[in-house]
Amino acid sequence: MPKTEQVSAKAKKRLFIKTYGCQMNVYDSTRMADVLAPLGYEAVDSPRGADMVILNTCHIREKASEKVFSELGRLRAFKQERAEEGEEMLLAVAGCVAQAEGEEILRRAPQVDLVFGPQTYHRLPELVARTTRGADGRGVLDIDFPAESKFDHLPEETAASGPAAFVSVQEGCDKFCSFCVVPYTRGAEYSRPAAAVIAEARRLAAAGVQEITLLGQNVNAYHGEAPESGTAKAGTWGLGRLIRALGEIEGITRLRYTTSHPRDMDDELIAAHGDVEKLMPYLHLPVQSGSDRILAAMNRRHSAADYLKIMERLRKARPDLALSSDFIVGFPGESDADFADTLKLVNQAGFSQAYSFKYSPRPGTPAAVEEVQVAEAVKAERLAGLQQLLGEHTISFNASCVGRDLPVLLERPGRKPGQLVGRSPYMQAVYVSLPEVALERLTGALMEVHIEAAYQNSLAGRLTVDGQAVDSAAQPAQPARIIA
Ligand code: 5AD
Ligand code: SF4
Repeated sequence: MPKTEQVSAKAKKRLFIKTYGCQMNVYDSTRMADVLAPLGYEAVDSPRGADMVILNTCHIREKASEKVFSELGRLRAFKQERAEEGEEMLLAVAGCVAQAEGEEILRRAPQVDLVFGPQTYHRLPELVARTTRGADGRGVLDIDFPAESKFDHLPEETAASGPAAFVSVQEGCDKFCSFCVVPYTRGAEYSRPAAAVIAEARRLAAAGVQEITLLGQNVNAYHGEAPESGTAKAGTWGLGRLIRALGEIEGITRLRYTTSHPRDMDDELIAAHGDVEKLMPYLHLPVQSGSDRILAAMNRRHSAADYLKIMERLRKARPDLALSSDFIVGFPGESDADFADTLKLVNQAGFSQAYSFKYSPRPGTPAAVEEVQVAEAVKAERLAGLQQLLGEHTISFNASCVGRDLPVLLERPGRKPGQLVGRSPYMQAVYVSLPEVALERLTGALMEVHIEAAYQNSLAGRLTVDGQAVDSAAQPAQPARIIA
């Protein structure tokens, strides 16, 4: 039976997925919806009254994990409500908390019907079928690391819903930074074959997607099977080679990738930043600390100087490259002098934006059992100091954009009526006010925007005509130039 008839033959069911954590989880959530679509599940905006609720969870820091249990408490009431109406609400926990604490979830939250990890959601139809509770009354648990890749079993993605999309190209991590749970929750490094990635990107382009962000926990460690040339297999491709190939797809105008490790910034990838015009001049490259002593204890296997050298090479290839980073403060044993080295690195590097976190001991990681843990008050003080400095760099970078014309991919309505918001090449959110009549037509368009104001987390501007700013309120948007 054709797929469409299969769906219409089944009763529609409401599916609510709540996603926590990184962009990889955002991607996984859309793919879970794809897997469940043939069973009749359709996404809804609220868990109340849903037939199935999935919490796609994050385990990276303690706070992220705790949220899951409090949310499960709230959902128990909705499940109860459904039961009183004689209906069922399947409650599932997915993602990295599921992987790390699957048994514990079923024990602490007996209302949960199904627990599955990031590598087994292609089995969802079978898992859902098994949720009829057996004699032990327990939910179903599947937190395998199967030998087969889920990517070989997932259905084709359903049509993209906007002009920008994620494509997962790599998963897992073999780096084992001493603070990090990812190698345990996501498993060993795996790269999808280049041909599969290119095919997915082509389908997205055909569906109107312009910007693709390649995702991986350690995306620049990508080493996927090269497309077959003739009969002989041509070995593997690194990320730089893959980006070059994706840059040739018509319709795709922007490429990005995240998240990277400094050790995997190889020559080919650095060169791609100079040669591939579609590769946006923005890179998120976590450094975590500016102290060599702490970097060694974190098992990062690079020094602060190595990091700055890589930045220099990247900026040589692409002079306007904006860099962003991640930092952890209060790693075990971090002294005032170590922290001062972090502040020094921030001033040397000049990040356009950054994320910073208090160190959070994660069960099963080597750093969690270090004896010299940093006091909570010290962590809080260092975090505030670092965020103050990083904030100053961000605002000065944003301010340097005022007066420039930047291409912005207008993705969706902004916060206020009459606004659209999109991203600059440097990943800044840019708000543009438009006449009501132009809003729909320009959603999804890549437009030249004259930047008029800079804030901590965004820019504001108006459309330009051939580089000239126009008063968008006075003139309807038709004279503005649509770049793509
Ligand atoms: N504590 C605090 N921050 C962490 N990160 C990863 N593990 C921890 C932890 N145990 C941060 C790192 C990483 C980002 C995704 O989360 O900075 O780059
Ligand atoms: Fe975690 Fe990234 Fe280190 Fe891998 S490289 S262990 S994902 S911080």
